[in-house]
Amino acid sequence: MGLLDGKVAIVTGAGNGIGREHALLFAREGAKVLVNDAGGGRDGAVADLRDSGDGAGSSAESVVAEIRKAGGEAIASFDSVAVAEGAERIVADAEKAFGHVDILVNNAGILVDKSLLKMEESMWDSVIAVHLKGTFLCSRAFAKRAVARGEGGRIVNTTSVSGLLGNFGQSNYAAAKAGIYGLTRTMSIELQKHRITVNALAPIAKTRMTNDLPMFQNMETMGPEHVAPAALFLASDLCGGRTGYVLAVAGARMYAFKVVETAGKFKEGESTVWTANEIADNWDAIVRA
Ligand code: NAI
Repeated sequence: MGLLDGKVAIVTGAGNGIGREHALLFAREGAKVLVNDAGGGRDGAVADLRDSGDGAGSSAESVVAEIRKAGGEAIASFDSVAVAEGAERIVADAEKAFGHVDILVNNAGILVDKSLLKMEESMWDSVIAVHLKGTFLCSRAFAKRAVARGEGGRIVNTTSVSGLLGNFGQSNYAAAKAGIYGLTRTMSIELQKHRITVNALAPIAKTRMTNDLPMFQNMETMGPEHVAPAALFLASDLCGGRTGYVLAVAGARMYAFKVVETAGKFKEGESTVWTANEIADNWDAIVRA
């Protein structure tokens, strides 16, 4: 018995790295998997934002071959998540091939790092388009079908420590990933009545996206295979009704991110309006968790 027997899953950006591990594990657990990947370099070059759908440069086919060789069921998809027609087709293709769709993992991603002063508008736009807009477009296409079918569903998004805490040189990526956090929270609230859970992963893993970072040198214990079980948990019935969470994984460490709201302090005295000087005088009491 697999944890995903009878389920149909879409994993975007599943030709490499973390997405590939998700797709392989989901298939081993009995899911029929649409392996989506538009191909291209780490910065999205070649994949571009075009809705080419021709598979050039994509590794989706090789992941599909790996799944089939192991006795699983999978199809490849080469559409870009960053354009509406591509996102719609990804979900429609899975439905056409397997009859319905239960699970969407929004994982596709690119990196175009530059410090704020050197960040060009095109670098900002391409990263926001793949991560934030892509997550919105695929989730909307998936959720419409899931709501119409009435059998619930599971969305697993991919955010990042960079977006939740900030990181030098990644204003575009951090903004996109923080946006995915807000999108996850809001979708989890809106889709709860339809029994669609929406959670996010915040992974740290050695992939082509990160393998040149100093922290990953000689770090063989941080592979993407550590992340896939967290996605499986959030995509399976083991997750139950849990929704709106951010599950973080870094090698053997499994933890969670939460936004903290402090108790704060109520204004004393006759006026209820704080002055800037009073904020300065009460700073510690206001921000203390
Ligand atoms: P990766 O570069 O190995 O895989 C990303 C895949 O997405 C690639 O195969 C790429 O072709 C595909 N892709 C890019 N643009 C696409 C598009 N428009 N449509 C469809 N597919 C597209 O990177 P990795 O590390 O596996 O990243 C997976 C996800 O995890 C990304 O969302 C990334 O931002 C996130 N992440 C990774 C971290 C890490 O430490 N590796 C840290 C935090 C988040």
